[in-house]
Amino acid sequence: MKFYNLKVKDITKETSDTITIHLKQPLFSKIKYKPGQFLTIVLPVNGKSIRRAYSLSSAPNIDETLSITIKRVDNGLVSNYVNDHLKVGDKMEIIEPMGHFCLEPDKGLARHVVLFGSGSGVTPLMSIAKSILMFEPKSVVSIIYGNRNTDTIIFKAKIEEMQKKYGERFNVVHVLSRSEENWIGYKGRIDKTLTINVLNLLPKFDKSQTEYFMCGPEGMMDEVVAALTSLQTPKEKIHRESFVSSTASEAKEDAKNAAGGTERDVVIILDDEEYRVTVKPTATILEAGLDAGLDMPYSCQSGLCTACRGKRKAGEVKMDEDEGLSEMEIKDGYILTCVAHPLTDNVVVEIG
Ligand SMILES: Cc1cc2nc3c(=O)[nH]c(=O)nc-3n(C[C@H](O)[C@H](O)[C@H](O)COP(=O)(O)OP(=O)(O)OC[C@H]3O[C@@H](n4cnc5c(N)ncnc54)[C@H](O)[C@@H]3O)c2cc1C
Ligand code: FES
Repeated sequence: MKFYNLKVKDITKETSDTITIHLKQPLFSKIKYKPGQFLTIVLPVNGKSIRRAYSLSSAPNIDETLSITIKRVDNGLVSNYVNDHLKVGDKMEIIEPMGHFCLEPDKGLARHVVLFGSGSGVTPLMSIAKSILMFEPKSVVSIIYGNRNTDTIIFKAKIEEMQKKYGERFNVVHVLSRSEENWIGYKGRIDKTLTINVLNLLPKFDKSQTEYFMCGPEGMMDEVVAALTSLQTPKEKIHRESFVSSTASEAKEDAKNAAGGTERDVVIILDDEEYRVTVKPTATILEAGLDAGLDMPYSCQSGLCTACRGKRKAGEVKMDEDEGLSEMEIKDGYILTCVAHPLTDNVVVEIG
C-alpha cells in the first residue's frame, strides 16, 4: 500500500452538510485510479491513526485534482472533523486508491450505463458518469438519484452542466422524498416499482450491453436489485457499493459464537512471505496481523471496501459481513480479513 501526503488545493461547499475536498496530485508520477474507486484518508486522532474510505468524485484524465466528497454523519468523527476544520493549504495523508466498484471507459463500446444513487452514494457514480460520457462517445449514461429535497442534491449544478453538454446521452431522474410543493419530478424513494417504471422510460439497449451500478442505503439497493432481478438482469451486470454496514454488530456476535471462543493460529501470506499469527477469540484475522506488526492493507474495517481482501488457501473462516464481495469472489475463496474469524486450526490466507 502506498501512502501520500497531499495538499488541499480547494474545498467546495456542495450542500449545507457536504464538502468536496480537492487534493493536489503529486508533481511527478500522478496517482492513478479507476472511475468508481475510493481512497483512504488517515487522520491522527488522540494518538491513534484513524482510517476512513472515501470514493473519488473526480474522474481520471478529466479532473486535475483527486477529489473526495464528504457528507456529515450524525456524531461521526471524521466526516464532521473535515467539514468543520479542514482548510485550503492543509496536508492530508491518504492511501492510494483501491476498490472493485469501478468501470473503465472503452471508446469502442456502445452501451448503457445505469446508475442508482442516494445522498453521498452519488460520489463514485459521478466519477463513472464523467468518464463514460467523455471517453465512450457511443454510450449513454442514465442516473436515478434520490435525495430529500432540491437543497440536498449533491452536484446539482454540475449534473445540470453535464446534461446541457451531453444532451440525450445523459438522462437524469431525480427522486425526492420530501420534495418542495412545486416539484414536478418523481416523489418518494427509489423502490422496486419506481425502478421498473423509470427503466421503462430509459433508452433500450440489449441486456448484454447494459451495466447497473448502485450506491446508497442497503434498503434502496435491495429494492433496485429486486427490480432488476424481476427483469431477468444477469447478476454479473449488477454492481453495488455500500458505505455503511447495517448488520455488522449482530453478525460480529454470531461470528464470535461460531468461532467457539477458541484462540487459533492462522498463516498469513503477505508479499510472498508466510507469517503465523494467533487470533484471539474476539479478534479478526486483520487485527491479529496488525498486532503482530504485519503491514496488512485495510481501510473501512467494516467488510465493505475490500481493501483487506485475501484468498483462503486452507481452513474455514466465518465473516461478520460479506457485503463487499461478489458471489463469485466468495465462491473463489476470497475473504475480507477485517471481518473474518478462523473456525479451524489450519487457516491459510494469502493477501491480495
Ligand atoms: C468504500 C467506501 C466509500 C465511501 N465513500 C464515501 C463518500 O464518498 N462520501 C461519504 O461521505 N462517505 C463515504 N463513505 C463513508 C465513510 O467512510 C465514513 O464511514 C463516514 O464518513 C462516517 O465516518 P465518521 O468518522 O464521520 O463516522 P464514525 O465516527 O465512523 O461513525 C459514527 C456513527 O455513524 C454511523 N455511520 C457511519 N457511516 C455512516 C454513513 N455513511 N451513513 C450513516 N451512518 C453512518 C456509524 O455506524 C456510527 O454509529 C464510504 C465508505 C466506504 C466503505
Ligand atoms: S478494510 Fe474494508 S473490507 Fe476490510
